Amino acid sequence: MAKISVSILSADFSALGDTLKTIGDGGADFVHMDVMDGRFVPNLSFGPVVIGSLAGKTDLPFDVHIMAENPTDMIEQYVTENTEYIVVHYEACPHLDKTLRSIKALGVKCGVALNPATHPAVLDYVLDITDQILVMSVNPGFGGQSFIPGVLDKIRMYSSMRAESGLSYKISVDGGINLENVSDVVDAGADIIVVGSSILNAPDPLAAIRSFKEVANAHTR
Ligand code: DX5
Ligand code: ZN
Repeated sequence: MAKISVSILSADFSALGDTLKTIGDGGADFVHMDVMDGRFVPNLSFGPVVIGSLAGKTDLPFDVHIMAENPTDMIEQYVTENTEYIVVHYEACPHLDKTLRSIKALGVKCGVALNPATHPAVLDYVLDITDQILVMSVNPGFGGQSFIPGVLDKIRMYSSMRAESGLSYKISVDGGINLENVSDVVDAGADIIVVGSSILNAPDPLAAIRSFKEVANAHTR
């Protein structure tokens, strides 16, 4: 059954506590935290202080997506009682193997995100230690962008590679997902669907989460 991870990037930042409650009440599976450094991506969002203050305010696990250059030295600051995954970008980590191992050494699961133009084969030598592959379906930096359909092939590729190799990484997809395209994403093999604006900018975010869950569950193979 595909899981729904709600990105708080499109939330009203003056009421993040209320947003967490809505996400939980709607039955989402993860809270997706988009950390941006203004260098790797052309935007700034929030970092460990905000994530730390939200920890303990919900029972949901955090899926922390770090869009920052060489984040290795700061990884520890993202570990909270809620943190399940810490995901770094392939394009931002010159020593990816070391970074992934240092995340796992902190007792949390590690993930690698790939920009839309990055070839899937770049992860060949870290697949065995990766708990999550985050396939970006927009160029990272902003919520509310349009889904890039070409990434569906990348999702299928990682899905068949997993079946052939017997590995167990989860495939997450992030950016531009709405109620029209979510079934294509799930059919392609995604396990975790990241949704921001289509839920938090909807007239009724709670109902929107439920609709995403229904479609995702109906299409899970
Ligand atoms: C983009 C972020 C996404 C984004 C998703 O850089 O990583 O998580 O917030 O938002 P929507 O669903 O609006 O594309
Ligand atoms: Zn994200």
